[in-house]
Amino acid sequence: MELCRAAIVVKIHCRKLRLFVDNARPPLSYNVPDFFPITFLMSFVSSKIAELSPSITLAVTSQAAKMKKEGIDVCSFGAGEPDMDTPQHIKDACLKALAEGKTKYTASSGLLELREAISDKLKADNGLNYSPDLISVNCGAKHSCYNAILASCGLGDEVIIPAPYWTSYPDMVRIAGATPVFVQTTMESGYKMTPEQFEEAMSPATKMVILNSPSNPTGAVYSSAELEKIAEIATSEDILILSDEIYEKLVYDETEHVSIASLGKEVQDLTIVVNGFSKAYSMTGWRIGYTAAPRKIADAIDTIQSHTTSAPATFAQYGAIAAYRGDQQVIEDMRQEFDLRRGYMLGRFSKINNVSIVEPKGAFYFLVNIGRMGINSMNFAEKLLSRMHVAVVPGIAFGEDETVRFSYACSLDVIKKGLDRFEEFCRSH
Ligand SMILES: Cc1ncc(COP(=O)(O)O)c(C=O)c1O
Repeated sequence: MELCRAAIVVKIHCRKLRLFVDNARPPLSYNVPDFFPITFLMSFVSSKIAELSPSITLAVTSQAAKMKKEGIDVCSFGAGEPDMDTPQHIKDACLKALAEGKTKYTASSGLLELREAISDKLKADNGLNYSPDLISVNCGAKHSCYNAILASCGLGDEVIIPAPYWTSYPDMVRIAGATPVFVQTTMESGYKMTPEQFEEAMSPATKMVILNSPSNPTGAVYSSAELEKIAEIATSEDILILSDEIYEKLVYDETEHVSIASLGKEVQDLTIVVNGFSKAYSMTGWRIGYTAAPRKIADAIDTIQSHTTSAPATFAQYGAIAAYRGDQQVIEDMRQEFDLRRGYMLGRFSKINNVSIVEPKGAFYFLVNIGRMGINSMNFAEKLLSRMHVAVVPGIAFGEDETVRFSYACSLDVIKKGLDRFEEFCRSH
C-alpha cells in the first residue's frame, strides 16, 4: 500500500516536472526574471494554443453590447451578422422537425436529405457537380474552414492568406500546426491578390491558398478572369484552394459571384468549397455550414468530424433544408436592403476628409483606411468608442493596421447617426 502511494507521488512529481519544462518558454512580452516561481511556469494551456489570440471582432461586439446595456447610446458597426430575422418558413421547418421528434443524432456528415439539397444548390447556382458523399455539413462555416484546414495541412506546410483576411484563418492554420504566409494586397488592386503576388509567396512548402470572395473585411469580389489566373498557378503547382464563399449571395451592381471550383475539373479537384446558411439566410445562430471537397479530403473531414463535434443539431438541419428548397426571394430582399445601406455609406465616406475606401462589391462591410490620421487601428477604435460611442473593428484583426471595419448589418438610422459622429471624430483629428 505504502509502495503504491510512493509510486503515485513520484508519478505526480514527474508530471509537474514535465509541465515545468514544457512551459519554461515565457511569453515574449514578459521580462525574464532570474528565477521563475514554479506556479508562473506551470501553465496548463498547450503551447500551441497559448500563441493564439481571442477574436477581436467578437470582443468589440460584446464591448458595445455591454455599453448598450449600461444605457449608453452606442452605434455599433461591429456585427458580422445580418440584423434581419431568419425567414419564417425556415423556422417553421425546424419547429416541425422538433414536433415530429427529429431530435436524435444524424450521420456525422449530416442528413442525407440536406446534403442532397446542397448538392442540387451547388449544381444550380455554381455549376458544380458534387455527390452528397463529398459534402459534409458542419457547425457553421467557421467550423467548415477549420475542418478543411485540419484535414489537409500540418507541420511544415505553408498556407497563403491574402491580407486583409478574415480574422480566424491564421489561427486556424496555426492550430493545425501549419504556417500562415501573408500576401499584403493594396487598395490599388482592390484588395485582391495578383497572380504575381501569389507566385512570389509560394515556396516548396506551400500546401494551400485561402480565397474569400466576396471578402470579409474588404468586400472585394474576384472576377472570373482573375480567378482563372489564380487557378492556373494553383493547378500547375498542385496547391490546394480553400474557397470560402459564405458571402456568395451578397453581391452588388453588376458583380457576379464565381466559384473558382467551377473553372474546370483540374481546379475542382484541388478545391475545398466552403459555404453555409449564416449570412444568406440570416441563420448565424443555427450553426450550419458545409464543405464540398475532393474525395480524400471529404473523407478526412468526415473522420475529423466523427471524432469531434459530430453533425450540427438535427432540427437545425431541417431548417437548412427548407432554406435551400424554399422561396429564394428572402435572399434578394435582404440583399436589396444591404445595397441601400451600402449606397448611403459610399456617399458619406467619399465626403469625409482623412479617410479613403475601396468600393465594396460584396458582403456587408466597408474597410476604411485611416492611415492619414497617424493613429493605429486599436487606438482609433478605442477612442471612437469611448468618445463618440461608435463601435468599429480595428483593422489589426484583419492584418491591416491602417484601417477599421464598418459592418452595415445595422439599421439605416444607426448608420446615419453613427456616420455623423464618425465624421465629427475625423474632423477633430
Ligand atoms: C469570411 C467568413 N467565413 C466564415 C464565417 C463563419 O460563418 P459561420 O457563422 O457560418 O460560422 C464568417 C463569419 O463571420 C466569415 O466572415
